[in-house]
Amino acid sequence: MKAIQKTYSTKARNFLHGGDYFPEQWLHLPQYLQEDIKLMQVAHTNTFSIGMFAWSRLEPQEGVYDFEWLDEVIDRIHSFGGNVLLATPSGAKPAWMAKKYPEIRRINTRREQELQGRRHNHCLTSPVYREKVQMINRKLAERYQNHPAILMWHISNEYSGECHCHLCQQAFRNWVKVRYENNLEAVNQAWWTTFWSHRYSDWDEIESPSELGENETHGLILDWQRFVTDQTIDFYKNEIEPLRELTPDISITTNFMADTEDLIPFQALNYSEFAKHVDLISWDAYPAWHSDSQTDKELAVKVGFIDDLYRSLKQKPFYIMESTPSLVNWHEVNKAKRPGMHLLSSMQHVAHGSDSIMYFQWRKSRGASEKLHGSVVDHDNNTENRVFKDVQEVGHYLEKMREIVGTNRKAEVAFIYDWENQWAMKTIQGYSQESLRYPQTTQEHYRRFWERDIPVDVLNVNQDFSDYKLVVVPMLYLMKESFMEKLSTYIEAGGTVVMTYISGVVNENDLVYLGGWHEKLQSVFGLDISETDTYYPSDNNSVNYQGKNYVVKDYATILKDVSGDILGTYVADFYQDTPAVVRNQQGTGTSYYIGARMESEFQDDFYDHLIETLHLRAPVQSTHGKNVSVQVRQAPDADYVFIMNFGTAEETVDFEGKMIDVVTEEEVEKSLSLDAYGVRVLKKFK
Ligand code: GLA
Ligand code: ZN
Repeated sequence: MKAIQKTYSTKARNFLHGGDYFPEQWLHLPQYLQEDIKLMQVAHTNTFSIGMFAWSRLEPQEGVYDFEWLDEVIDRIHSFGGNVLLATPSGAKPAWMAKKYPEIRRINTRREQELQGRRHNHCLTSPVYREKVQMINRKLAERYQNHPAILMWHISNEYSGECHCHLCQQAFRNWVKVRYENNLEAVNQAWWTTFWSHRYSDWDEIESPSELGENETHGLILDWQRFVTDQTIDFYKNEIEPLRELTPDISITTNFMADTEDLIPFQALNYSEFAKHVDLISWDAYPAWHSDSQTDKELAVKVGFIDDLYRSLKQKPFYIMESTPSLVNWHEVNKAKRPGMHLLSSMQHVAHGSDSIMYFQWRKSRGASEKLHGSVVDHDNNTENRVFKDVQEVGHYLEKMREIVGTNRKAEVAFIYDWENQWAMKTIQGYSQESLRYPQTTQEHYRRFWERDIPVDVLNVNQDFSDYKLVVVPMLYLMKESFMEKLSTYIEAGGTVVMTYISGVVNENDLVYLGGWHEKLQSVFGLDISETDTYYPSDNNSVNYQGKNYVVKDYATILKDVSGDILGTYVADFYQDTPAVVRNQQGTGTSYYIGARMESEFQDDFYDHLIETLHLRAPVQSTHGKNVSVQVRQAPDADYVFIMNFGTAEETVDFEGKMIDVVTEEEVEKSLSLDAYGVRVLKKFK
């Protein structure tokens, strides 16, 4: 390997475009590796994540290393000015290691040990595995620390899962000891173990949740999930130790995920905690466009929500680390993106703050599980196919849009999304597990702001929201007293809060607040809660809000002692004419409590009214149909305006004044039309 001087300067000023590259799959076909370098340039790509599943090639036998093939690949990418995101290989352990050190293989909740196979299946605690990971990471850092192609560390891949081995049990017990300050009685109280005689008399009786054992002690399950996040972060911190030591100037990220093809935030790890330990946020986006279950516009709302959530973790631009240029291989139906959708879906991430578009994977595998997953280079090795050209087009756009890199978004509206709340809700035995739908409900409230092109930050409960004009808190079932305190202070000082049904029920230990709804919430919202009614789909009720009736679905809260203004009342049932929507003033601020889940027209009308009252505005105002989204990134001198059509019909968008098309450099004035799945990126000088 040549010793080349480190020069990062201009690289970060480009959008990163490229993807996961697995040269180790093609070492026996070197002509493909040479061809790749040409194709990367033809595709207008510039950045590649390398090494993430390469351990068995990097260390084919214990202590025997082979980096030469990697040297060559990195040098070649560097030769055309490309960047490398150097990945650590801990996401898939080699077979020799699993054989020699069986304790590194995960134990599942049934206490069965996994065999070698698949990936993302190591013990989080095992000292042997941690040592092996540090060793290979140190080798990588030593070898490539001065290589000018290395732009960033890509740590492991999509951390997830848990291990229930005896080492993990011990680590959990120690974690519990720390959390409860060595006081076993405090654990018994927090987990309410006297119920069903589950009291612990010794620390070593504590076991992780299992379908064969403890699975209804909610406080235990909640703490286990906190532990899994902490243990994953601890594992990650062990991974990055040699990298921080040897390459203090190279930024570190690990790729986060979303759950389900329907796109809700990833559930198993608390990313608001994890975010504190990475330099940059990145995530892997695989929405199922063109599906039967929802319109593309409905899905686009959810994508926008996740982008805004992950951007808000650090309040700065993030990276799309993986996406597909075409189809995936794990959706129920793996449908190809229609013409236009690849550019549109890529631009949407950029509009919400991404400084990259990266793919899984660069070249389609010939065998094994992902051989039919979309990729930039298909088995035909052809640059003339539709997908390759779609990638080229995105590359061309991103090159033209360079000046947008690093710009951010400014929001006056904050939504609260909380991972611990989601965990607590998952274990609820009550209401209806099927209809709780916490993330989806949050996304439904967010929808109205997306439709009105009003930017939103999605914050966790620990972030500061004092500067926002409006804070929306849907279904915050688990609510810490410190959060109630924050809400109250914010409202006193003039803020506006919206909160819904099923909020403020339990504390951080998943213990229900005693003595009625918490008195802090009672005084903020001007009401107390008497009952929560859960509906069958056939149940029939509505809320009369400002003279119009809205159908109630799933949940209705019955209120009492209402001192605030009654804006809506129930139309039927034994709580007919009682309050369902209440507004209250405290200090100079205002709170709204929405007691029932209602059809989407309610969200439309309720938030439209609030948007007017608070003078919330889209940064660049326009008029357009319901499938169009206008999102803005802001620089000191200009707004960058992304106009996107998620519908299949042509759309006209009208706006004031002139803008410049960043890609074509044409001037557009007052109006433009967009084809199906059309997108324009415009610049509006301030
Ligand atoms: C995930 C993984 C990739 C790949 C893709 C596509 O995001 O990180 O390695 O498996 O999914 O299926
Ligand atoms: Zn373990």
